[in-house]
Amino acid sequence: MKKPGIHFRILLATFLLISATTFTLGAMGVNITRKFMQSRFEERISFLARYLALNAELGILIDDRVMLKTLAGNLLSEEDVAQVTILDSNGKKIADISKDISGPLNIVEAPVLLKESHDESLAFELDTAPEAPGKGLIGKVLITYSTRGIDNLLSAMKIHFIWLSAALAGLAGLIFYFISRSLVAPVTELAEEARLVAKGDLELRARPGSLPETRKLALAFNAMLDSLDRGREELARAREKMARQNSLAEMGKFSMMIAHEVKNPLGIIKSSLDILKKDFKLPDSTTMIRYMEDEIRRLNSLIEDFLSFAHPVRPSFRHVDVNALLKEIMMGFEIQKVGSPVEIHSHIPSEPCHARVDPDLITRAIGNILKNAFEANGDKGVVSITVSCQNDKWFVDIQDQGEGIDSENIHKIFEPFFTTRSKGTGLGLAYASQVIRLHNGTISVKNREEGGALFRVEIPISIIN
Ligand SMILES: Nc1ncnc2c1ncn2[C@@H]1O[C@H](COP(=O)(O)OP(=O)(O)OP(=O)(O)O)[C@@H](O)[C@H]1O
Ligand SMILES: [Mg+2]
Repeated sequence: MKKPGIHFRILLATFLLISATTFTLGAMGVNITRKFMQSRFEERISFLARYLALNAELGILIDDRVMLKTLAGNLLSEEDVAQVTILDSNGKKIADISKDISGPLNIVEAPVLLKESHDESLAFELDTAPEAPGKGLIGKVLITYSTRGIDNLLSAMKIHFIWLSAALAGLAGLIFYFISRSLVAPVTELAEEARLVAKGDLELRARPGSLPETRKLALAFNAMLDSLDRGREELARAREKMARQNSLAEMGKFSMMIAHEVKNPLGIIKSSLDILKKDFKLPDSTTMIRYMEDEIRRLNSLIEDFLSFAHPVRPSFRHVDVNALLKEIMMGFEIQKVGSPVEIHSHIPSEPCHARVDPDLITRAIGNILKNAFEANGDKGVVSITVSCQNDKWFVDIQDQGEGIDSENIHKIFEPFFTTRSKGTGLGLAYASQVIRLHNGTISVKNREEGGALFRVEIPISIIN
């Protein structure tokens, strides 16, 4: 069986509590009112009885029955009075009139006493306690009255109280219904949202609502979903990376095998070509010979790249002036680019900056980044190199004015064999980052707002005084 929820429980408890309270208070109120009204009513009837007894004294003394009847008749006109009887001292009825009223009936009696003197103050007489029984007793007055009026009034009051209590309980129930709904609704909503998230709607977020507590709950729930999202994205990226690395590793092994296998035949082709050139006295300028030599050189450098990436040489670190080293590298590039419209802007401080590096490896690594920058620029624009030596680090910024790097590729470009160039091997940056890691440095890249890419190399230095 489904258990009742918080909302229903709060409502039921409130309803029962309010009903019990209002009914108890109502019953107490009715009871007190009943007692009060009954005593006032009885007081009134006994007052009337004593008033009649006082007035009947003379009529009894002179035995004037008409007068007594008139007095009794006056009293009978009172709404609740059913019968008025006046008796003489022997208990004989000397006046007795009645009217038809439904019960329940009660009787009140008052003695008719012979007073020695008559005081004018009726109130005084009425309030005075009756004298000792028998003393001056000349008769008595009996008033029969009906309590139906007061009973009806009390029943009407009871019904009013019941309605009032029920209305109060209903109103309280209604108020608590809305209060409890506003308390419980955000929790129910959150539960529903959690169910939808569990079903796969991962974009869904809880609405914060207006109550501070449920707002906190919703925000915590959303934060949890955000962090789950981030975790899932990271996992997906890690999976993708692993898959890529696995295939790269396989590709790498295969490439290495081919490189090894091609290296020896290439050497044989190269020496055979040299022999042919010598035997047939062919000049170096022969077009076919030049083509063959160019292609052999290109294949050779490709194989060298593969092999140097797969089996990096042990670095031989030396203290060198890296600023001077970079000037040399740039000079090499200036020579290589003769005839190219691409300009080189170098900002290399003239002061030396000493670092413990392998100059050959650094030359090749920086060379690869520069080569990419020239390739990105095509045959126009500026490639600029800015070097600085600060905070125990040597910084080299290389920026170009090419297309920049697509955002989906930017985190892949340092992986081996990643290339977007038809003749590229995808090893240039992988090699550069390998070398920079060997020097405990870092390499990073970003696209410039003005266009083009900016590569930054940071290498820790040791200043030699
Ligand atoms: N300056 C740059 N501007 C735009 N894209 C770049 C830049 N440098 C590198 N890249 C991108 O990164 C890829 C990887 O570069 P990397 O140097 O490793 O290999 P490659 O240049 O393609 O081939 P290789 O260097 O072996 O000739 C490039 O194919 C290119 O897509
Ligand atoms: Mg390259």
